[in-house]
Amino acid sequence: MTDDFIPNLPAFDDAALDAAFAALEGKARADAAALDAEAFRLQWLGRKQGLLKEVSDRWLKAAPAHAKKAAGERFKVLKELVEKLAEEGAASGPGDDALRAQALDITLPGTRRLLGAEHPITRTMNEIVSVFAAMGYSVGTGPEVETDYYNFESMNLPPGHPARDTQDTLVIANQERRPLRDRLLLRTHTSPVQMRVMEQQPPPIRIVVPGKVHRNEADDATHSSIFHQVEGLCVDTNITFSDLKGTLDHAMKALFGSAVKTRFFPSFFPFTEPSADLQISCIFCGGKGCRKCKNSGWIELLGCGMVDPAVFAFAAEKQPAYDSRKISGFAFGMGPDRIAMMKYGVSDIGQFLGGDMRFLSQFA
Ligand code: DAH
Repeated sequence: MTDDFIPNLPAFDDAALDAAFAALEGKARADAAALDAEAFRLQWLGRKQGLLKEVSDRWLKAAPAHAKKAAGERFKVLKELVEKLAEEGAASGPGDDALRAQALDITLPGTRRLLGAEHPITRTMNEIVSVFAAMGYSVGTGPEVETDYYNFESMNLPPGHPARDTQDTLVIANQERRPLRDRLLLRTHTSPVQMRVMEQQPPPIRIVVPGKVHRNEADDATHSSIFHQVEGLCVDTNITFSDLKGTLDHAMKALFGSAVKTRFFPSFFPFTEPSADLQISCIFCGGKGCRKCKNSGWIELLGCGMVDPAVFAFAAEKQPAYDSRKISGFAFGMGPDRIAMMKYGVSDIGQFLGGDMRFLSQFA
């Protein structure tokens, strides 16, 4: 595109033509000196908007019949000059100005990119996963936008079950026309992946599921509406509660040090029977009692239990081998956010998602 404008000619007599073409010739020489070869070529010879095209349109075509020959001759001379200048420019390469504009000062310091590092939650989840990987577990995954069926119903939380109230759920809008079981929500726990994996493969199963979960929580120092869980599921013949205890006791020692002790308390989850809460001896005071463990010497770490036969019955709809008369299993779920807070002395869970580099760079 050219930024110059070719005015209409006021008159077409020889004097007017000479003056107009002389002015253009001067401009062509000046442009050839100022512009690099490509810019000059575009400015003058550009097929749609080059100056020669403009001159041809405005002066030659507009010239009255008696002046056409005179204008045409002068145009031919100008065109030859422009072509010559363009050729010389291309042969001599870019001019000084053009070179200066492109120059690269290699002595300038570069733009230093910050090195990435594993997020503390990712690191904690990877540590948990590798402890179980060493015991033969593989990793399962499932969607964060989940159906009511997988998140609740198949986990033995039927519609209207009071335990649904303990997981204040964020639902996707405008699905009233769908049957309840197909309605979408943000998964409130990683447990639905138990069902997704069992539907995909018959027993035996040993999986851990690290992932993000969502609940309608008011955010404060220890609660976040977005947090994480690592789910575990082991299904085989003759799996007993002592397998659950031995596996989790080993895992806690691998994660927090071999001096850590574990103990189990009765609890309730709809998807396990019996259910338990696992506590570990306080990793700060070794069990003597301190502020962190509220002087109890123990810290509650996860929920677990033997897989409820009702859950196996849902899995058996797709995989008949989940027959609770022939197989059994245990499951557990833990919160890596809390574990990371303990491990790294983080007092506000919101820091994990805040994206503040002053916080994150401490883990680099
Ligand atoms: N899904 C439970 C929750 O979010 C955690 C949990 C408890 C998972 C016990 C389990 C389990 O697999 O056996 O509160």
